[in-house]
Amino acid sequence: MILNNARNIYINYTSTVLYLGASSGTTVSHISDITTKTIYAVEFAPRSMRELIQNCNDRNNVIPILADANYPEQYAKFIFEEIDVVYVDIAQPNLTEIAILNCKKYLKDGGLLILAIKAKSIDVALPIQTIFNAEIQKIENKGFEILEKISLSPYSRDHLMIIARFYLKPT
Ligand SMILES: C[S@@+](CC[C@H](N)C(=O)[O-])C[C@H]1O[C@@H](n2cnc3c(N)ncnc32)[C@H](O)[C@@H]1O
Repeated sequence: MILNNARNIYINYTSTVLYLGASSGTTVSHISDITTKTIYAVEFAPRSMRELIQNCNDRNNVIPILADANYPEQYAKFIFEEIDVVYVDIAQPNLTEIAILNCKKYLKDGGLLILAIKAKSIDVALPIQTIFNAEIQKIENKGFEILEKISLSPYSRDHLMIIARFYLKPT
């Protein structure tokens, strides 16, 4: 994102972050260096979780959570505050739906979604622009305001980063 001229990194020293798809914690560790607040790091693979716990041992602002991000209510018992940023880096066909579900449950009004759309995880056959457009439409339909769309090419092929602002709406 930075190398492709993102206007902002959208996370600062006061950001509380819900991170979905933490893996062994590479990006989580960078976010942990930036913010003084808590990062709730959700990962469903036990092997990655073991590495995440080891890698975050000396970081007192990371809470590793072993859970499936499809079921956000399962980690409600660990999250007691409003979330400023939901960061989603999950290789799943329904990654956008997972992002929306978690934003609805945890993100504050006016908070930010940072979403990595991985075209090949969604559909291997469709043109990538068709996939990106469909996922952006889903986000806009839920009332998010898209702030930036940043291709990660050539660093990560077929990836688009979306930064969107979330507004609570009466349903
Ligand atoms: C591309 S990796 C993330 C890399 C990591 N974000 C980083 O930059 O260091 C995607 C991770 O999402 C996890 N994942 C996939 N589906 C998930 C789900 N439904 N709930 C939680 N984690 C999931 C995978 O196990 C994998 O570790």
